[in-house]
Amino acid sequence: MPEHIVHILPEQVASQIAAGEVVERPASAVKELIENSLDAGARSVSVEILGGGSALIAVGDDGSGMTRADAILSLRRHATSKIRSAADLSAIRTLGFRGEALASIASVSHLRMQTRRAADEHGVEVAAEAGNIEDTRTCAMAAGTRIEVRQLFFNTPARLKFLKTLATEQGAIAEAFQRIALANHRIAFRLTADGRTIFDLPRANSVLERFRQVLGPRIASRMLAFDLDRPGVRAQGLAATSQESFATGRMIFTFVNGRSVRDRVLIRAIEQAYQTLIPRGRHPAALLFVNMRHEDVDVNVHPMKTEVRFRNGGAVFDVVYHAIRDRLADQTENASVATSVDTSAAASDALAPSTDDAAMGLITTASMGEDARAGQSANAPGDSVPNPRADAPLRLVPD
Ligand SMILES: Nc1ncnc2c1ncn2[C@@H]1O[C@H](COP(=O)(O)OP(=O)(O)OP(=O)(O)O)[C@@H](O)[C@H]1O
Ligand SMILES: [Mg+2]
Repeated sequence: MPEHIVHILPEQVASQIAAGEVVERPASAVKELIENSLDAGARSVSVEILGGGSALIAVGDDGSGMTRADAILSLRRHATSKIRSAADLSAIRTLGFRGEALASIASVSHLRMQTRRAADEHGVEVAAEAGNIEDTRTCAMAAGTRIEVRQLFFNTPARLKFLKTLATEQGAIAEAFQRIALANHRIAFRLTADGRTIFDLPRANSVLERFRQVLGPRIASRMLAFDLDRPGVRAQGLAATSQESFATGRMIFTFVNGRSVRDRVLIRAIEQAYQTLIPRGRHPAALLFVNMRHEDVDVNVHPMKTEVRFRNGGAVFDVVYHAIRDRLADQTENASVATSVDTSAAASDALAPSTDDAAMGLITTASMGEDARAGQSANAPGDSVPNPRADAPLRLVPD
């Protein structure tokens, strides 16, 4: 028996273990890459995948870009531009903050990054294999960043084995993409899978317009806007009329300070607001944005950053419950927001899922892609908001 049996793992093994927490499947890599683009102030983000994301994930943006030195550093673990000290953890305003995502993704793939700041003459291209940088060179490109991830999990066979069918992985990617797109209506997004356009979402003027682009005109025309602003917590969003209900809860989308989260308090508040209004065992459609002081919510509680902890969950529950319950109570009195939806949507109504089960399958159905494509071309390049994510007030419905 050797005297010493405890040792420090090599950096590469440690990164692969860390990667296992952050990157569970291709959809997690897609989420992290898109979030980086948003944090970089992108106004337009495009995602291409091949083979359910296993063969290729490429995310391109028109955000800030990076210098050569930053690009190289960004692939290292704990490399971040977003926080500096532990104190910053109590008020995180960006989607990322751990400096782990790129390092994790890189450690289990062949990664190529191209990036250029608007002020720089050239871009830089960095190629890495299993996290080791193999090559850097200058490249010609527009300002922004493009990251290509090939053969995800090529060096972690155990993880590879757990991947589901191509269709399932692609569905998970589409879902992650949808959630981010719903929360960022001022930003243009595109998703193509194996060369086919799944979503092409021009910048939208309101949350409702983005909702319609993503989920189709039929359900969009049945959404009521709600907004309840109480000291410390604001709950805003769209809630379906009680005539609508679904077999699963997958039409419920919840965000806290712009971050997509799964949270029991929020889901329970929404479901309870519909109690007695929709049949038992059925679920509503709702898009909920909860905003509160950054100090009142801990976002550093889950490896994939999809869960949060509220300082005062009871207060959050109350605001969400009342925001929706009260709005549903006067759904018959007030004209629904549907009346202000652009009527041209009616033209593409035939393409929309007509049953709730179709709506559930939205994530991968062709109809959603058609719907999304129908909205193309409204993308006005001149319309300039300096940073679309910067705490601009949420416009729920078109003016
Ligand atoms: N698309 C991008 N455009 C510009 N800079 C980027 C982009 N992607 C990453 N970066 C830079 O690289 C850094 C590292 O990214 P990474 O995703 O690993 O960490 P993070 O976003 O800071 O935190 P987290 O691990 O929570 O995502 C970022 O902090 C950012 O400065
Ligand atoms: Mg990140």
